[in-house]
Amino acid sequence: MITPIRWEADRLLLLDQTLLPVEERVREHTRWRDVAESIRSLVVRGAPAIGCAAAFGVALAARESRARDGETLLADLEEAFKGLAATRPTAVNLFRALDRMRAVASAHQALPVPALQLRLLGEAQAILEEDLAANHALGAHGADLVPEGARILTHCNAGALATAGYGTAVGVIRAAHERGKVALVWVDETRPVMQGSRLTAWEMVKEGIPHKLISDVAAGFVMKRGEVDLVVTGADRIAANGDTANKIGTYSVAVLARHHGVPFYVAAPFSTIDASVPSGAAIPIEERDASEVRGTAGRQTAPAESPVYNPAFDVTPAELITSIITERGIFRPPYSFT
Ligand code: MRU
Repeated sequence: MITPIRWEADRLLLLDQTLLPVEERVREHTRWRDVAESIRSLVVRGAPAIGCAAAFGVALAARESRARDGETLLADLEEAFKGLAATRPTAVNLFRALDRMRAVASAHQALPVPALQLRLLGEAQAILEEDLAANHALGAHGADLVPEGARILTHCNAGALATAGYGTAVGVIRAAHERGKVALVWVDETRPVMQGSRLTAWEMVKEGIPHKLISDVAAGFVMKRGEVDLVVTGADRIAANGDTANKIGTYSVAVLARHHGVPFYVAAPFSTIDASVPSGAAIPIEERDASEVRGTAGRQTAPAESPVYNPAFDVTPAELITSIITERGIFRPPYSFT
């Protein structure tokens, strides 16, 4: 089993995803600031995984505090809440996890500090366990939609690495594979950060799932040849109308899928739905450093002077999404999540 996030004794262990697939190294975190830096620098990435890591970041902040009472501890935690919230803007899971940790801290502030610290650690562990359970449940729902002998295309990494384990889109693929339904997974390499080739392909190899890596620009060609039966991706935030933010390039894949009559599924825990956001237009889109586009794997592939636009996510309009697969079941258009 792939375990990207683990608490051990007094520290948070994160599998360093920036080094995969070449090296499997675990980084230890005992300070919330280091957790924030690991989220920002993509040591841990993927919407649910970011939320889980941030929750443990808050638990670490509580241990770092010298407060002698709950009220002071709460005041100390504010800096960690702010610092962790400022790491990445798009995935709603980060903010959900922080809200949940804040609610627990304030509900239990009358406890002695050591008990409150333990309560916060317990909540982080609960967030991790709930995510794992949600992934298994949504994977099973999604696998029902997969035909025998399916050739499935996925974009980015919505796998075990991006979650507490098992994965969302890759959870659907795993569950379908366990039922013997998967003939082939087309793995988009996912420029510019290569989550597909570095991470999803690595997971496919580990699990022995038949797959082929393609450059993003090959997706249309394999669909045109009739070699894709369905697309499944993850989500970073789903608006109330079903518009879905996910890794840059997802929208292009959805347009291609619609043109070629291929079903396009989004798989995500129900908590990825952000009812406070009416449509995709209101989802904040992270922009990352120009160096990600000007080069690949540390090698410069564009003039250093070339101006760059590097949105890390895009929004797929609800009308291009065949269904949204969650642990609570499968939602179909017109989307309503109440
Ligand atoms: O920038 P990343 O690697 O954090 O982006 C990840 C994605 O876009 C995933 O598809 C999404 O978070 C869903 S992960 C289950």
